[in-house]
Amino acid sequence: MTFLEEIARRRTFGIVSHPDAGKTTLTEKLLLFGGAIRVAGAVKSNKIKKAAMSDFMEIERQRGISVATSVMGFEYDGYKINILDTPGHQDFQEDTFRTLTAVDSVIIVIDAAKGVEPQTEKLMNVCRMRKTPVIVFINKLDRPALDTFTLLDEIEKQLQIKTRPLSWPINSGPDFRGVYNIYSRSLHLFDANVQEIRRGIVFDDINSPALEEHIGRDAAVLREELELLEGVYPQFQRADYLNGNLAPVFFGSALYNFGVKELLETFVKIAPPPRPSHAEEREVNPDEDAFTGFVFKIHANIDPNHRSRIAFVKVCSGHFERNSACKLIRTGKTMRITSPTAFMAAQKETIDEAFPGDIIGIPDTGNLIIGDTLTAGEEIHFKGLPSFSPELFRYVENADPMRSKQLAKGIDQLMEEGVAQLFVSRFNGRKIIGTVGQLQFEVIQYRLEHEYNAKCRFEPISMYKACWIECDNREVMSEFMQRKQQKMAIDRFGRDVFMADSQFILQMTQDEFKEIKFHFTSEF
Ligand code: G4P
Repeated sequence: MTFLEEIARRRTFGIVSHPDAGKTTLTEKLLLFGGAIRVAGAVKSNKIKKAAMSDFMEIERQRGISVATSVMGFEYDGYKINILDTPGHQDFQEDTFRTLTAVDSVIIVIDAAKGVEPQTEKLMNVCRMRKTPVIVFINKLDRPALDTFTLLDEIEKQLQIKTRPLSWPINSGPDFRGVYNIYSRSLHLFDANVQEIRRGIVFDDINSPALEEHIGRDAAVLREELELLEGVYPQFQRADYLNGNLAPVFFGSALYNFGVKELLETFVKIAPPPRPSHAEEREVNPDEDAFTGFVFKIHANIDPNHRSRIAFVKVCSGHFERNSACKLIRTGKTMRITSPTAFMAAQKETIDEAFPGDIIGIPDTGNLIIGDTLTAGEEIHFKGLPSFSPELFRYVENADPMRSKQLAKGIDQLMEEGVAQLFVSRFNGRKIIGTVGQLQFEVIQYRLEHEYNAKCRFEPISMYKACWIECDNREVMSEFMQRKQQKMAIDRFGRDVFMADSQFILQMTQDEFKEIKFHFTSEF
């Protein structure tokens, strides 16, 4: 196979949803089709329903040992598919956002009874920002669902994207009869007692009386709804989907493995192969000869017996070969990657080569950090997804004076993994940790103790938001720094951060210092 053919057959995507909509179930069914797993139940759900710390650490420990589930690669119908797993827990949203920098498209799962939920909206915002093509899978049709047109309206309004149904459900809940696939013009009948995949019945002419033979009186409603929808929704244009302006919609029931195969078959046909990646200096096309890639995730193995970390690298261009020299742009050092791993069929294995779109795992002892660019030599820097202003803050103090070095190292490494953000107050020199969720504090404490043998204590700090500030006028900046002395801090990279006590104070400060720019993400 040629280099270009290898690129063209790759589909690298993420499945996202609000917790409980069915992401894990859908992922598992897709893996079953790809032969990547043989029995249902093989994919461990990584969400923590009750957010108990001990559960979370146990899940993380298991995931740490079998990092294979972070990326699931398999072959399907000549395509090489890479599904990137994202954490289900909302305290780990940033991890999900970063993973979304490495995908070429996304499938959003929505619960048909609940419609658009808060986390779906946040995830869609990230997709919109990056113009990532999105397919919507409306799940759980075997349960009573919201009205289909209402659901589609809600998606358009709340997710701010045009939709185009490519299949259409016939009732829901106990009366669920199946779906009509508009894209392939076929009827798929649902039977809760039959889980194996049955071929759809081709139905070019839905006005044919034969439709009544299959779905009785529901045929009339289906015809009416299809007619209505053809009037309301424009024809499906793949270009609109690829530009991120239109989301094709499918309906089904992941639990009953219904509608999943059609989703996968349409997905491989319409979803994009690897897309160009944006570096600060230029756009990088996948078909360029020279290798480039970036680190979007670092997975620490929190099992004390296997302490290595794995850096996940998305290959953006070129043919990656084992043992070839790569330049780590941040340090300028050349490194030889001797045992890159790939994640196939839920197994981790050493590979000799990889192509754009693939994710490779690089064993790391602390050289790589999230956002790092690796190239065959060219000095470019891939744009990552910025860190967001954290929302929860605590002072972190050493609880064991004999082990302050270990604590400092532990905190540094956890911050490099992107677990949370560290600020140092300019006023009193105290370290402040900022997170987006409560669970992270517990995770930090647990991991410091178990991995670094260090103990920390958190102390409350009343703070509303940390924002990065910038100003061309030196005088204004120095006046600001003086006036706000007690509220200034620096981040890990030495940048100035203003820590606002409350929304009110932030607003007042912004009004007073009009020349100063306040940034709420770390990339500006
Ligand atoms: P998530 O990863 O998005 O959080 O969701 P997950 O797949 O774990 O699904 C959440 C719950 O919804 C699970 O039930 C799952 O069995 C159920 N589910 C998923 N898809 C469907 C569907 O198409 N129809 C119906 N009726 N249910 C569905 P649970 O009881 O919470 O977990 P479990 O004990 O069954 O695993």
